[in-house]
Amino acid sequence: MRATRCCKSNTAITDEDKSMDVKVGAAKQVRGSVRTAGDKSVSHRYAMLAGLAEGTSEFENFSSSADCASTLGCMSAMGARVRREGNRVEVDGVAGALREPQGALDCGNSGSTMRMLSGVVAAQPFTSVMIGDASLSKRPMRRVIDPLEKMGARIQSHDGCAPLTIHGAKLKAMEYQPPVASAQVKSCVLLAGLFADGETSVIEPVRTRDHTEVALRAFGCEVTRDGDRVSVRGGQKLHAVKAYVPGDLSSVTFFLCAAALFPGSSLVVDSVLLNPTRSVVLDVLAGMGVKISFLSVEEQFGELIGTMKAEGGVFQGGVIRGAQSAALIDELPAIAAIAPYSAKGVEIRDAAELRVKESDRIAAVVRNLRAMGAEVEELPDGMVIPGGQRLHGAEVESFDDHRIAMAFAIAALRADGETTIKDAQSVAVSFPEFFEALGKVVE
Ligand code: S3P
Repeated sequence: MRATRCCKSNTAITDEDKSMDVKVGAAKQVRGSVRTAGDKSVSHRYAMLAGLAEGTSEFENFSSSADCASTLGCMSAMGARVRREGNRVEVDGVAGALREPQGALDCGNSGSTMRMLSGVVAAQPFTSVMIGDASLSKRPMRRVIDPLEKMGARIQSHDGCAPLTIHGAKLKAMEYQPPVASAQVKSCVLLAGLFADGETSVIEPVRTRDHTEVALRAFGCEVTRDGDRVSVRGGQKLHAVKAYVPGDLSSVTFFLCAAALFPGSSLVVDSVLLNPTRSVVLDVLAGMGVKISFLSVEEQFGELIGTMKAEGGVFQGGVIRGAQSAALIDELPAIAAIAPYSAKGVEIRDAAELRVKESDRIAAVVRNLRAMGAEVEELPDGMVIPGGQRLHGAEVESFDDHRIAMAFAIAALRADGETTIKDAQSVAVSFPEFFEALGKVVE
């Protein structure tokens, strides 16, 4: 592979200067196999529920992401005992009795940690302060503050953003219809509902990933779904589990997009999450020309896990809109970054949520694509990217956003010349092994 890693000023990375620029050159083919650490969304939920449960939970292949380390850190600050050896994690739960944290709960870069855990701490008999890094401190938190206040918590924020000071209270059950399609908001309310009197329901405007519902059941709770309504009864106890966390499908998406770029490419992806609320990306990429076949599929703790093969054909492109955009929200940067190489182009609409992720992902993708010489039209809720384009290597920004850094490492594989991804260390937020894994499959 012509990809080389280097640091700013070509020196070793030190603790004082973690910034790292990565150079990625053009490739000819993508071949081999990929197996990633556990899914980030599933690992977050397992860490939270294991911390609350009675007994010791054990996880194999837990996410290696910095985000999930933030969740484990918060749970341990509230009394859960966490032991970790690589991707094997053991958590002694507090059997429902969290301890008041001594300092602020540091959520790092992780919106999932802050939003989902706010539902848990809102129900505790103490006050918690949740903080995050510069990016997380700009992201909208009213979407969780509003429902939690309706349930009885008192929350101070900085104009709807972190730091959040959450005065826990005895919560009232409620029925809530979130104004945005967000699994994080749904999860926040359901987790709060676990501690409320009576039954709490969330009516989803658009179906979002259901890992919280699936994980709650795995830990012994009853969760019901009736159409768009998901409900949980308060006062249920959680029991420890021993589980293998399926590989992260959103991380794997970067490799599938790499395979899409080269007719004749062939990748086997081992032990990956195939939950239908997440695997929409497979349908979309298949519709765009990537041949996807499944070698095995099984269910573990309610989550589907399997081995699949992806082979590149002619990458056609297409339109992504409506519920599909919501279901693909984490995968859209990768698809957009390779869109100029498609035959017919890619149009993405109804994805305004991209603007409030770790970075404004619409602006970031548009800026980087243009730096590589692409034509692209920016829309308030998406972008239109014509196909059949030839891109050149350039210096692109990661915008301190892991998915932007990875998306442009993939776009670089088909560009003429070398691309430098600035501050690529941000990949550690979800996929610290990304560049190493990419190096193994790119020829
Ligand atoms: C996540 C839900 C999504 C996604 C995020 C993880 C989750 O956010 O973008 O990376 O684990 O529930 P929203 O629910 O806010 O769309």
